[in-house]
Amino acid sequence: MDYQTALGSLFSPEGRHDPYPAYDVLRAHAPAFLAPDERWYVTTHALTNRLLRDPAVRLADKNDYDQFWPDWRQNRGVAPVVLSMLQTNPPDHTRVRRAAAATFTARRVAAMREVIAAQAEELIKVMPVSADFMSSFAYPLPIGVICALLGVPDSDRAWFRKHAADLTVVLEPISTIAEMQSADAAGRELEDYFIGLIAERQRHPQEDLTSALVASGDNLSGEEMLANLVLLLVAGFETTANLLGMGLHLLLDRPAEAERLRADPELAPAFVEEILRYDSPVQLTSRFTTEQLDLGDGISVPAGAGLTMLLGSANRDPARYDDPHRFDPDRPNIQPVSFGGGAHYCLGAPLARLEAQVALPLLLTMLPRLALTGEAERRDRLVLRGFSALPVTTG
Ligand code: HEM
Repeated sequence: MDYQTALGSLFSPEGRHDPYPAYDVLRAHAPAFLAPDERWYVTTHALTNRLLRDPAVRLADKNDYDQFWPDWRQNRGVAPVVLSMLQTNPPDHTRVRRAAAATFTARRVAAMREVIAAQAEELIKVMPVSADFMSSFAYPLPIGVICALLGVPDSDRAWFRKHAADLTVVLEPISTIAEMQSADAAGRELEDYFIGLIAERQRHPQEDLTSALVASGDNLSGEEMLANLVLLLVAGFETTANLLGMGLHLLLDRPAEAERLRADPELAPAFVEEILRYDSPVQLTSRFTTEQLDLGDGISVPAGAGLTMLLGSANRDPARYDDPHRFDPDRPNIQPVSFGGGAHYCLGAPLARLEAQVALPLLLTMLPRLALTGEAERRDRLVLRGFSALPVTTG
């Protein structure tokens, strides 16, 4: 396969279902290269890590959107993402991230351990013998956890799942008009939901993260507050559900590894890092350069170039990982780039890790005969990788 075919395959359903052979071809072609779509693709672990931290590499933010898409604020699928910290540059990013980090503290996350375990146990107890793991556990758990954290009633978990799925299509490099319309509708409804919640918490503060963020309100404009609450809710479960689904699939597909984790839940942190490396729930992120950059190997990227960083490729880079296509939780110093890096490093990484570290051993010990049945269905997404359905039996 030549590199152009490999790149093209990432934009087809089959290529998206298993992008790793294509990543191998692209990485062998170059650590970074200019593609016919006029974007620079970055394929290696070292370069991805470096560029995520380079001050001359920035996100397309609301000022850029004003220039190339003057009506972007009309599209309420796009607006919450662009107005959130995920697509904001310094100095705004520094200010907003600081306010969010001050509320989303390590202590608040650590205090969630018991909530996570209790919710996971409840879900396991009611799981049918024949179940779709995604709808009976992988989504309900992180939705329940982020709702508990934000102080959002989780009575309609299916509503949140559908709205997050519709909204996050805006992260994909290519989407249809119908998908953009669904994203718009989902964004509007999520915003309406949080407008009500913010007003309620202004009147009656509680012990939750929403109240804490509202109380620090002077640091954030109204539209920033709204966008970041939508982001926290959606980012809080969409990716974690995929980590749980892909993690369980990897384990049940490798009974010896599942047995090791069942026998020794202390291995969970290493297993979760290797799951994140092996099949990252976020496969790419985009930036652009603000000045000309020399990337080594004779590669020079001009100022103003669009960059696509293939996180999933970086995680399987043989220059960084021996035998990268092997699932091996005993690898030393795993450090995948699945949570990004630098100033935008995932704010929820400690929570996502904790959820998987608690849930996966619990599933294996409480359901010793848990097994895969039938074909797992991959989501037709390139950026947010995961399963739409994962049939299992509890035995
Ligand atoms: C940012 C991945 C779970 C909240 C990011 C980024 C990645 C990522 C790659 C950086 C994007 C970029 O640099 O362009 C993941 C994965 C998760 C996960 C793989 C689960 C396995 C969570 C959770 C939350 C969360 C549970 C919140 C409760 C955020 C926020 C940002 C972010 C707020 C933006 C940070 C910033 O721009 O400063 N995540 N995430 N994520 N994530 Fe996560």
